[in-house]
Amino acid sequence: MDRKHHWAYPALTRPGLTRDQLFSHFRHEYLVYVRDFPVLLARALGVTPPLVGVRRALAENLYEEQTGGLSRTDAHPVLFVRMMEGLGFDPASFVDDDAWLHPAARRYRDFLRARSAAEPWQAAVALLTVFVEGSVNERAELAGTFVRRRGEDAVREHALVKHYGCPPEAMALTRAHAEVEGSHRADAWRIVLEHAPDGSAAARAVTSVCEEALVAWHASRDGVAERMGLEPISEAS
Ligand SMILES: [Fe+2]
Repeated sequence: MDRKHHWAYPALTRPGLTRDQLFSHFRHEYLVYVRDFPVLLARALGVTPPLVGVRRALAENLYEEQTGGLSRTDAHPVLFVRMMEGLGFDPASFVDDDAWLHPAARRYRDFLRARSAAEPWQAAVALLTVFVEGSVNERAELAGTFVRRRGEDAVREHALVKHYGCPPEAMALTRAHAEVEGSHRADAWRIVLEHAPDGSAAARAVTSVCEEALVAWHASRDGVAERMGLEPISEAS
């Protein structure tokens, strides 16, 4: 997770991107993993053995992602599209025409689909709840040295609000994440550490699927950056 950083990320947290660049980035995000994330979780739940606590945690996460029931909001993919509307994009343009994705982004999406339902279950669960849902801040967040912003503070400080004119009302996704994601991060790590102890075959499977995911994710991010017309040099400038 320490390596889940891409050189094009800083560009997304500051002003200067065109509408087309934003659209390219967010449409990829949506089609690659946001829209189907609840279904990917369901696939992992489907290969999880009868471990009550694990199934409950996954079901809870799935419930929030597909309904927003815990945060009293709405399905996260729906909230994402609402945020896009706030930016002025037409929701209809987020429909998949199956020809638009960068090939590397498509490969990452296909990888997630295949591996979310593959044995061993610990690898499927780690792939989604640790790798996909987690960030480069993972270690610091678990150690308590990185504290994510919550509520209106998280919304106000969000780059889309600060730099790109998205109205705060359209940011329910950020509110929902700030509300529930902290406990999901803790659940994710607890499950993996408990059921894939150091040195076990499960731990090796977890590590290897996450390493593969990292490579596919980086290639996908490179592809999106290319579509956006960004180059590595822009980070230093
Ligand atoms: Fe979410």
